[in-house]
Amino acid sequence: MTQTSHDRLLIIDFGSQVTQLIARRLRELNVYCEIHPYQNVTDAFLAEFAPKAVIFSGGPDSVMRDGSPRPPKSVYDLGVPILGICYGQQVMMHDLGGKVEAGESHTAEFGRAYVTATDAKLDLLNGWFMDATGREQVWMSHGDHVSEIAPGFEVYGTSKGAPFAITADAERRFYAVQFHPEVHHTPNGATLYENFVRMAGFSGDWTMAAYREEMIAKIREQVGDKQVICALSGGVDSSVTGILLHEAIGDQLTCVFVDHGLLRLNEAEQVVKMFRENYNLNLIHADESDLFLGALEGVSDPEVKRKTIGKLFIDVFQKYADQIEGAEFLAQGTLYPDVIESVSFSGGPSVTIKSHHNVGGLPEKMGLKLVEPLRELFKDEVRALGHELGLPASFIGRHPFPGPGLAIRCPGEITREKLEILRKADAIYIDQIRKHGLYDEIWQAFAAILPMRTVGVMGDGRTYDYALALRAVTSVDGMTADYYPFTHEFLGETSTRIINEVKGVNRVFYDCTSKPPGTIELE
Ligand code: XMP
Repeated sequence: MTQTSHDRLLIIDFGSQVTQLIARRLRELNVYCEIHPYQNVTDAFLAEFAPKAVIFSGGPDSVMRDGSPRPPKSVYDLGVPILGICYGQQVMMHDLGGKVEAGESHTAEFGRAYVTATDAKLDLLNGWFMDATGREQVWMSHGDHVSEIAPGFEVYGTSKGAPFAITADAERRFYAVQFHPEVHHTPNGATLYENFVRMAGFSGDWTMAAYREEMIAKIREQVGDKQVICALSGGVDSSVTGILLHEAIGDQLTCVFVDHGLLRLNEAEQVVKMFRENYNLNLIHADESDLFLGALEGVSDPEVKRKTIGKLFIDVFQKYADQIEGAEFLAQGTLYPDVIESVSFSGGPSVTIKSHHNVGGLPEKMGLKLVEPLRELFKDEVRALGHELGLPASFIGRHPFPGPGLAIRCPGEITREKLEILRKADAIYIDQIRKHGLYDEIWQAFAAILPMRTVGVMGDGRTYDYALALRAVTSVDGMTADYYPFTHEFLGETSTRIINEVKGVNRVFYDCTSKPPGTIELE
């Protein structure tokens, strides 16, 4: 639980796939909220958290199963508004004396559905049912359904499979909906949240300017007069972390930028310049490219590459950190999605597709305490905070770049020659994307150099040079992705530019694999 002076809304998570979206919708309304798994929400927790309103998320279980997830009964005595969504609706009905029945084929609803209003009026529905059809599109995903509403509740909306699609006990301010207002496919869903938080009395004071001020005070309190170290990668999260810390504690912060020799064209210089010139912060530029590239010589297995880089990164970071006298804290750009304890019903371990590179193991190894000023933020909020802190827009909007850098865009053995070709080609590709105004539409774009040479003809001569793959995807979170549908004209122009301008390349492919089945990076 986080200390905050803002009114807070509690989301009790019953394991829905889309619980995080509820938080997103609320944050968009400048309302501070936290997601907690139902197992952690005890009477004592509720008393301490003191929510101004509560939302029950959806979930995959059935309230008729013994031992299925429940909130503590005391939640109904807090005197605050409660909104139950899908499974959360069924929990509320069941707990308060209504009835839920198992799904049958004619009552289960999955996907798009339409809710029609009843004659009764409800504050929660202000702005709903306004057009001529008198109905609203919603997203349903339920097997079980409520067959009898709890005493005190009234029906405000019905759908084909859910006669109690919207119900409420207006006096106690308990609201229950069978559909998911947080998803995109409930187009008017944000209005429900807006009405809900307005009725609960939230003032909408969760702004980035307020967050910045509070976080600075908090960092000062946590760190006191001690020294802090921070690993900068040049990415948005670590940059915002560094700048915020610098604003809070100035010279007590030292940032270490580990240059593993696997960065993009001029990237190291740009990052160092940006931080030294704009922010005047203590920055160690650790140029360790020889060390990394030496260790990677002859390595072609993707996992060995990743592990080699990950381990060396920790060793190098530790070496520099040891030189900073009295460092007691390590600052990290951990984000809220990494922090939320998710409710796992499957329980089984998921397979490792790739071992991701981060500084996760560092704090224990070095005996450092953590400072994580972005723990409460989603990625787009970090960008907003970056904006608030004056980070240049070109930095804030940058495509993600993986920790192991160009190593995983160079399948097979890594050589300096290949890296140089790759850097030049990648820069031209990104330049093309920017020139065509496509950069912000694309989640991530990069070139990769393939482990093969092919025959070509340039002028009157035979060439035997490298082939490149270009990749560009759209995505929301990197978990799934679609390849970007460039025009043939764009691809032709880009391929010509790369082959003409980069010595050592005579063929360019465009990767039109989505994820799944592909991954975004080639390794
Ligand atoms: P994949 O290739 O797994 O990538 O589809 C998904 C997203 O994660 C990035 N990525 C990484 N980021 N350390 C990182 O910080 C890593 O080891 C790493 N591997 C992949 C990738 O660039 C994409 O945005």
